Parts: sequence; structure tokens; C-alpha cells
Amino acid sequence: MLKHIKFIDNHGSFCVNRPENTSYLYFPLASEAGLKSSVTPVLGGDSKIDQDTFLLEPVSSENLHNNRSSRNFWIVKEGHIPYSVTGSSAQQEADRFTDRQEDSELTAGFMWQTLKRTSRELGLISTVTSFIPKSDNVEIMYVTVENQTDTVQKFTAYGAIPVYGRSADNIRDHRNVTSMLHRIETTEHGINVCPTMSFDERGHQPNHKIYYVNGCSGKGENPISYYPTVEDFIGEGGTYTHPRTVYEGYKGVPAHSLAAGKEAMGAFCFSSFTLAPGEKTDFILLSGIADSKEEIENIFEKYNTSDKVKNALEETRIYWKKQVNVDFHTQDPDFDSYMKWVSFQPFLRRLFGCSFLPHHDYGRGGRGWRDLWQDCLSLLLMNPQNVGAMIEKNYGGVRIDGTNATIIGDGDGNFIADRNGIARVWMDHALWPLITTSLYINQTGDIEILKKQVPYFKDAQTMRGTEIDTLWNDAYGNKQRTEDGQVYTGSVLEHILIQQLAAFYDVGVHNIYRLRGADWNDALDMAAENGESVAFTCAYAGNLHTLASILRLMESAGETSIPLSEEIEILLNDQTDMFDSVSEKKKILTEYAKSCRHNLSGRKKNFSLSTLAANLIQKSNWLTDHIRSQEWIDGKDNEEGWYNSYYDNHGEAVEGFHHEQVRMMLTGQVFSIMGNVATDAQIRKIVKSADHYLYRKEIGGYRLNTDFQELKFDMGRMFGFAYGEKENGAVFSHMAVMYANALYQRGFAKEGWKALRSLSDTALDFDTSHIYPGIPEYFRSDGRGMYHYLTGAASWYLFTMITEVFGVRGVFGNLLVHPKLLAEQFDEAGTASVSVTFAGKQFHVTYRNTDRKDYGSYHIAAADCDKTAIEIVEDSHIMISREFINNLSSDLHEITVTLA
Ligand code: G1P
Repeated sequence: MLKHIKFIDNHGSFCVNRPENTSYLYFPLASEAGLKSSVTPVLGGDSKIDQDTFLLEPVSSENLHNNRSSRNFWIVKEGHIPYSVTGSSAQQEADRFTDRQEDSELTAGFMWQTLKRTSRELGLISTVTSFIPKSDNVEIMYVTVENQTDTVQKFTAYGAIPVYGRSADNIRDHRNVTSMLHRIETTEHGINVCPTMSFDERGHQPNHKIYYVNGCSGKGENPISYYPTVEDFIGEGGTYTHPRTVYEGYKGVPAHSLAAGKEAMGAFCFSSFTLAPGEKTDFILLSGIADSKEEIENIFEKYNTSDKVKNALEETRIYWKKQVNVDFHTQDPDFDSYMKWVSFQPFLRRLFGCSFLPHHDYGRGGRGWRDLWQDCLSLLLMNPQNVGAMIEKNYGGVRIDGTNATIIGDGDGNFIADRNGIARVWMDHALWPLITTSLYINQTGDIEILKKQVPYFKDAQTMRGTEIDTLWNDAYGNKQRTEDGQVYTGSVLEHILIQQLAAFYDVGVHNIYRLRGADWNDALDMAAENGESVAFTCAYAGNLHTLASILRLMESAGETSIPLSEEIEILLNDQTDMFDSVSEKKKILTEYAKSCRHNLSGRKKNFSLSTLAANLIQKSNWLTDHIRSQEWIDGKDNEEGWYNSYYDNHGEAVEGFHHEQVRMMLTGQVFSIMGNVATDAQIRKIVKSADHYLYRKEIGGYRLNTDFQELKFDMGRMFGFAYGEKENGAVFSHMAVMYANALYQRGFAKEGWKALRSLSDTALDFDTSHIYPGIPEYFRSDGRGMYHYLTGAASWYLFTMITEVFGVRGVFGNLLVHPKLLAEQFDEAGTASVSVTFAGKQFHVTYRNTDRKDYGSYHIAAADCDKTAIEIVEDSHIMISREFINNLSSDLHEITVTLA
């Protein structure tokens, strides 16, 4: 039961009372054109296009309660204390948590939020709706004020938005000097700020961007007086929450005035107005970033009346609702609404990257390699149209030695060379492309993608990031070349093979894949010499199997062989007794890396698909046996046990029993289960141990590790974090969801659901999580949701719900329907359903389980698609052929599955 958050429709819209009483809340707003904002319940937060183009002062989480420089709108009645419709006045803040606190309520849906407040003092109800239209770089604040008293009242209104107008780098470096660059102009409807230059890491550049705040009444009337600088607006000794202009009625400057060299302010005053009892009026504030004055004028024309704004709001709402084209129906409507936000989060990560909300990971923009690939998972399920092209382009980031570019520019396939000689190899990077590509092939049946010719990335890094190729220079370019100077291209399949095969030989002393710079866990970054990741070795063992089955699929489609670069043969060694030798493996890897150190021969050879598949299986089997015999840790009473996940820089196993302490990490369990290394019997023991040592229901479920109580400088910075924070023992959603996914894949549905459900229960328990609906990056030790919205966990949660829990997914282009729902997930009538897109068609899949039987006890008794019966070959699932689906119309199709 939700206490503080209430869902109000079927699209995830929700409302919260007195949101200002909760710290660190922020809501994302963004357009497809580049502007992205965060908005707090008192309209703090920021707004920007990229690292160098911030309209409002950049904020980190601590600024959310600290900064006063928020968006504001003031209503003044003579003889009364000014009222801020955002609740951001000194008085309103002082009234918080007393019986004088105003009523307030925040309602929000995808890309819009409305804050409603009631001023008892003035007898007013005000609302502020904030949104960014989908294709413009302008944030709109639509303000309404209604007179609730039975007397006529006279008011004056002020719009007030501080304009930062520069690079985030200048928040400290050159903060004052860069204000001297500001050239400020008041216009008929607002204030433009056009800095003369920009100072950032690219040097001093002429600037043409204009940062602006425009305003008008709902009827299109302009302001009458302007306050273009912060000093003008707050007055000597004033503050943003007690601006002397508003409190003492200072007169500003007229339109077409100039100011320069000072911190800028988008503030203005409107002519006084009266409101009869029950009468309502409205105002519009438009703040944005533009390339020219004409653009600002056009935007103003587009949104300068209440009707225009209301229409734009409606369009924005419809647009984003449409993007989220999945819909769940279970016994719990709150969970179904929650899933709307989880499904929306991958869009937010596409727009915001990992940097542009107040908790930020990489900080300066962009997304990392693994995030790039995993974000495609949800796209494949919701908007698959362009994913094939995107995948193809992304393979262009792979280097010929199996490592990859790690600096990723804007747009697909834009990888940037490392010019600083900083070798960064994350050992998990080669894993994700295949996981995504395999889902792509399964969903679409497009096996041809494997034959697409793609170049390889080239920069100064060579020998798998251990040496610099001094022969490489700018003239060579960022694409791998052959001895005769041609850009070399190889098939997507060749890229995948090189990634998987090279990784196989990159081992440490325990014959486990080396940890290198880190794996998925970015904070395991201090064991580059001797660290090994058992966890990801398991994952790669699974990948080798997946790749073998893809090769067999190609074979069944009539291919017998494929051309590959001749150098690859070095990696195809199939003498299994050699696999036991670490030094032999290193030799092979060095030999291969040397063969493509600078250029490639360019010669190709044909390789038989069946031999290749057998080769991969052999490697996978060897890994599985090796890990099983070496890494299993027996737990208590023969009932518990788990896999060691890592070796530290001293070459010591990280997990097990350390004095009296139990050391266990989730990552090794996730991938031993997912990669089929753990046997079913071992999974039972792992689950027992994870429940014993890692599970804390009230903070979201499975923590990433137990408390090692040691700084472990031989492992990574995570051990410097307080226990329960981020990578050190938080409930890290991404790993917890992958744990669920792995369990489902192996048929452990009850256990998987426990992991998923604990996450959603805690997220929706507002008193604990203190976040709006959605999945945060992690829950810290007191259960607060952190780094909300921008996490790969959302893609994996959605992916797991659709493909595992509801079991609706592609198998080489055909549609598999294989439910793993538990009794508790069916509604009173025994129904559960999901709406998804598949092969360009929309399906509504309904399961009827009138006896509400549990997974494992039911079988499929009957199934139909639009009343055409579907043959049941196996009673756990049905398969609908691609051919059948291709013949369906573009309407919505109903698949009904009766469980008995
Ligand atoms: C973040 C990073 C991801 C990394 C993870 C663990 O996770 O974006 O690349 O693997 O931390 O260090 P996310 O925010 O996607 O949950």
C-alpha cells in the first residue's frame, strides 16, 4: 500500500503531498533537441545542453537544499509578505514543519511536473507546471493563480530565474571572470545573455549561444520592468529568498537596456492585476538556450499564450506516453504503474547520459561502452527500428586486439582516440556486445547482421592496452588499416569472435581472466597487475556457448564457412591440454596481438562454421570445469556455498572465510548462474547463502557484498566507500536485477521474483527510498534510493519482466511465449497480461490462470492468437512462427494463453 505517493492514472502519473519535506528529490525534464533539466519540488535544479552550455547553475545533490538560486515566481499584495508560488521564500521556508506550513502537492508524469500550493495568508491557490516541449530547447513554467477569497484582490507578479549561462567548468574555475564576459540585454519580453567568449577546456572561444528568460501573461502581455543582473534583483544585502526588489518594490530598467560583466538575472515585473473572487489568471516563463535572437523570437511566438502552452503540454505528454509502449497488468496496480517509470528510464538515460542529473556518475557527459550496449536491450524491446544500424556502428569501436575505444562521442559510432596514452581496458567490455547482438538476432531473426562489414577502431593503444603504437598518428586515422594502407573491414561476427577469443587467453596466475582496469564494477580499480575476475570469466563461458549456437544457426540457414582475417587462426588453438597452461595462453595472446600491432595483413581465410562452433564449445567447457573445480566455496552445514568472484592484487581469493568474517560478493553468483557454470544444486546453495549474508528486504534486497571491514588497497576504491554506499555493499540495482535475470533463466522463478520484488517494494516505499517512482542506481544502507533514474538497471528490469517473468521473447525471429509468473502475480480473476511490440506488431498477451496456480504447477492448456488456436507442442511454452506474425495486420493482436 502506498502511503505518500499516489498513482493517479494508467500511465504512471503520480502525486505527492508536501514534497518539499523530503530532501534530494528531483525530477527530469528534457527535449529530444538537447535541453535537459532537473527540477526539485521548490523548482531548484538546473538546465543545460551539455557540459559547456548550462542555462542554470549546475547542481550536484548537495546544492539541492543549499542553493537559493532557483526558478521563482512571486506574487505580491501590498501590506503582506511576498508569496513565492514555488515555496521558495524565506518565510515559507521558515514555516516548514510548523502549523503555518502551506499545503502543497506535486503531480508529475513523463516529462512534466505541476506544483500546487495554497497560500492561506493571501487566499490563493497557485500552480506551476514545468515541462520542455519535445523538439525545442526551452523550458516552460506555466503559472496560474486563483483568488479563493470572497473579496477582490490586487497583486503584482515577478518572474525570476537566475541565468548562469556558461560551462559547468566555471562553477569554480573562473567563476567571477566568466561573469565579466556576460553581455545582457532586456527585450520586450525578457532578458538575453550572450557571453562574449566561452572559457573551457577547449580554450577561449568566441561564443554565440544566447541564454534567455522570456515572460508574458497568459494573454500575451509583456513585463513592464526588468532586473537584468543578480545585484539589481536581490538588492544590497538581499537574497534570492528575500529579494529586496520584490519585498520593497524597487523599480527595474525598461526594455532595450544593456548591462554587462555581472552575474545575470532573468527577472521582470508584470503590471498589477486584480482578481475577483474565484477568478484565475496565468503567466508564462520561457527559459532556454538559442543560437540567435530570431530563434528566441520564434520560440516566444510559439508559446506566448495560455492556449499555445496548454496544447504544447498536451503534445509533450502524448509523445512520451507513446514512446513507452509497454504495459503490464498484474495483481498489483501500483507495481504496474511503477513499471511505467522503469520503462521510461532508458529514454532518460539516452537523453541525460550518466552525467546530467544531480547525482552524477561520469560527471562530464557521455556514456561508457558497457552502458551503450546495455541501453540497447530496452530499445530492442520498445523501439527496435534502428537498433540494427546502431549495433553495427557500435562494433566500429572494437579494436583488432579485442579491446575497444572507451571515449565515446555524440551520435552513434563516434569513437574518440585516446591521445593521452592512458590505457584503459575494462575486462567486461567484450561481454556486452554479444549479449545485445544475441537479443537482437533472437528478436528480429536478422542473422545477416553478422555478415555486415564494419571497420575496427584504431588509436595509439596497442597490445591490448599495454603498449603505445608509436607508428600511429592522426594521418593514419581512427580506422584500422592493412599493410597496403587500406582501411580494413571485417564482419560483425569477426569482431565478436576476436573479442571473445582474445579474452580467453588474457589470464592471470589462476588461469582466470585478468581483471585489468576493472570489470562491471568500476570501483575494483586497484588490482590491474594480478587481479582476476572469476565472475566475468563465468559470464564469458556463457558467451562462448551463445556464440556457438549462433554459428550453428548460421549453418542451419545454409552457410558452411565464413571468411575471417587470417591472424585469427592464432586464437583458434584447440589443444585443450594447453588450456591448463597460463604461460602458453599468454604466449598465444602476445603472438596474436603482435600480428596486428600496427597494421593487419589484410588477408582472409575461410573458416568452417561447425569447426568454429566446436572450438568455442570446447573453450567454454574447459572454463566451466576449471571454475567449478577451483572456485567453489563450501558454506555452512553443506547447505550453503558460493563462488569466489575475484582474486586481488596479491593473487589471493577475495571471498570465503576471513577469520570469523564471511566474505561474499553477489557478482560471482550472478554470472556463475547466468553463464551456466553453477549447477542447479549449487544454485540452491548460492540462494541460501545470498539470503543469509546479503539479503536485507527493507533496503531493497540483495546487497553487492558483505562488509569486508578492510580498505583493501589491493582491490579497489570501493573498499574506501563506507559500507552500504554504492559499489561497497549497497543494494546495487543493476547487479540485483541481473541476479534475478540469471535465476529466471535457470528456472528459479520464485527466487528471481524475490529479488525483483524487493527492489520495487523498497523503491515504492517513499518513507524509506525518498524517491519518485522508478529504480535508482542503488539503495544505500538506510534504504534511500540514490542516483535516481540514470541506471542500466532499468533496461535489465524491463528486459527481465518481458522476456523472463512474462516470458515473451524472440527465438531467432519466432515469438516464444513462456510464462514464469507466480500465483501471487495474477489478479483476483487469475489474469496477468503484458502489451509489447514484436516484429513491428503490437501484441497484448493475456495469461488466464483461474485457479491461480503457481509457476511449476501450471501448464499451457490452450492458446490462441486473435482466436486462431496455436498448437501446443511443449506444455511449458508456445512458439508462434515469424511467418505467421508477418502475415498479421498492423492492428493490435490478442494472444490468450490458458494455464491449468
Ligand atoms: C554504473 C555505471 C556502470 C557500472 C556500474 C558499477 O551503473 O553506469 O557502467 O558498471 O555503475 O560500477 P548504473 O548507473 O548503470 O547502474
